[in-house]
Amino acid sequence: MILPILKYGNPLLQKVCEPVTVFDKALEALAKNMVETMYAAPGVGLAAPQVSVLKRLIVVDVTAGEKPGQLIRLVNPEIINQEGEQYEEEGCLSIPNFTGKVRRPYRVIVSGKDLQGREKIVEGEGLLARVFAHEVDHLNGVLFIDHLGAIKRDIIKRKIRKKVRAGEW
Ligand code: NI
Repeated sequence: MILPILKYGNPLLQKVCEPVTVFDKALEALAKNMVETMYAAPGVGLAAPQVSVLKRLIVVDVTAGEKPGQLIRLVNPEIINQEGEQYEEEGCLSIPNFTGKVRRPYRVIVSGKDLQGREKIVEGEGLLARVFAHEVDHLNGVLFIDHLGAIKRDIIKRKIRKKVRAGEW
């Protein structure tokens, strides 16, 4: 099932999410729906708060479904190690049609759990590291525009307010 993706301005996107403690069918169903929603968008990552669920769950596929075996579903993800730096253009399904350059680690190690509650460690570099950092940010109520300089951020916010007034957001 494709779920509606919340857009910037919805207060749920600025909340700190709760850790998942129950690994049940409902969690599996949520992950499945998030994957479908991400692929339909299409996007390379999605965090539960973007579909109105304030739980620490992310799905990531840097090929956006183009290559099999690239899908990662991670519960309670935590960046436990990071190195290097990248400074690339970034977007977000909750802030459609806007991008900005964000500084991210070049390489990350992320710990978390799979949908059955088993410990899982994932490494990522380049785009994958960036997506992990972006999605973990979502779980803490942080959006990519929060990393931009004040001027760039205000320009985007102003354009969004204009779209809201025009009924286009
Ligand atoms: Ni995002």
